[in-house]
Amino acid sequence: MDGGATAKRTAATDDQNGKKAKMDGEAHAMSLIFSVVSNVGALENALDIFKQHNVDLTHIESRPSKVSDKEYDFFITTKAKPDAIDKVVKDLQPLVARAPTVLDNDPDTTNPTWFPRKIRELDVFATRVLDAGRDLKSDHPGFTDAEYRKRRAFFADIAINYKHGEPIPRVEYTADEIATWGQVFNKLTALYPTHACAEFNRVFPLLVENCGYRADNVPQLEDISQFLKDSTGFRLRPVAGLLSSRDFLAGLAFRVFHSTQYLRHKSKPLYTPEPDICHEILGHVPLFADKGFAEFSQEIGLASLGASDEDVTKLATVYWFTVEFGLCRQNGELKAYGAGLLSSFGELEYCLSDKPKVHPFEPEVTGVTEYPVTVYQPQYFVAESFASAKEKVRKFAASLKKPFTVRYNPYTESIEVLDNTSRVRDLAVSINNDMQVLCQALAHRS
Ligand SMILES: [Fe+2]
Repeated sequence: MDGGATAKRTAATDDQNGKKAKMDGEAHAMSLIFSVVSNVGALENALDIFKQHNVDLTHIESRPSKVSDKEYDFFITTKAKPDAIDKVVKDLQPLVARAPTVLDNDPDTTNPTWFPRKIRELDVFATRVLDAGRDLKSDHPGFTDAEYRKRRAFFADIAINYKHGEPIPRVEYTADEIATWGQVFNKLTALYPTHACAEFNRVFPLLVENCGYRADNVPQLEDISQFLKDSTGFRLRPVAGLLSSRDFLAGLAFRVFHSTQYLRHKSKPLYTPEPDICHEILGHVPLFADKGFAEFSQEIGLASLGASDEDVTKLATVYWFTVEFGLCRQNGELKAYGAGLLSSFGELEYCLSDKPKVHPFEPEVTGVTEYPVTVYQPQYFVAESFASAKEKVRKFAASLKKPFTVRYNPYTESIEVLDNTSRVRDLAVSINNDMQVLCQALAHRS
């Protein structure tokens, strides 16, 4: 094992100290993911280490590694004391190909003290889909279509088996799926120049150019994710269906957007009772490539971490009226930036008509406003700019009752809780470094 991998393991372990504090002294359900070079006896040697530290395994599975054809990945679940797990991780070090991942295997999302600290911990959300993963409701347009249900199970499998860091599997879409996509694409792209906000219209041609946005081609999530990563650091990960508000917002804190990969049913190309790939990549994706909007979205996600259920509901409502159904004012005219509008031909026209009411975006008011989910919105909230909306959300977040402040560290892809002097000092050093770079840049310009 090389030194870089060793450092990574140590850092990963240190960054889980919030979780460790919760678990100290108590046996806790955990998962370990590690890769070993496929030599004879390699797994036996690894399992011996668990035995030596009296760590019982509750589940074990393996698969050929997607990183190297000379390696096997192992996924192990156990219930053990944290110090025993630390010893196992340390002793595994000479045997594994890279840093083992340690995950809380049984996070309690009803407990506001738990939230993911490392980006890899988003993997635990994969199986917690609330609705329409494999199972469709009886009023779903595809409920009686056996082929469609089989296809949905295929997409659910991709999402449930996906692990952070892997490329998102490419999908060969069927002729029916491409035709459905094409109808939606043609209807909506005709409206974008007049109805979508300027930021959306600036990015959309780049998606055509770089990610294959065309009426006869359903773009691949992996290509889009790479494009977003280059643009703003946002990335996609596949999801089988709806997540809870808490899980979904937590993803945004890491600049991760959970995206479905399946198409709506072909019988109703202009209607879907749930998010589908048309909604995600036409409605949401373009603005995640905009710096201001990316910051705004992440701000809502960060505010949700560790918040009470009541406050998560308020933040999810703010999300609804902004990222999903937001309007903004540009050059004196109302324009749409919400994904629910930009992916719905009918509501995109309706929202800019004189029929709905419009109010200024104020998180304190917006966050407690009730809304329907099956009909067009009777009212919308208008942001003056993404920067002003972000500042308003930041102030709103500060008013929520949380005993700590969090910050995303893009270098370690982790959430830092600023709850002690040492961490606040680290932040001050980091800001000081940035200030020096700023001063140098200003000096070069003078
Ligand atoms: Fe959405």
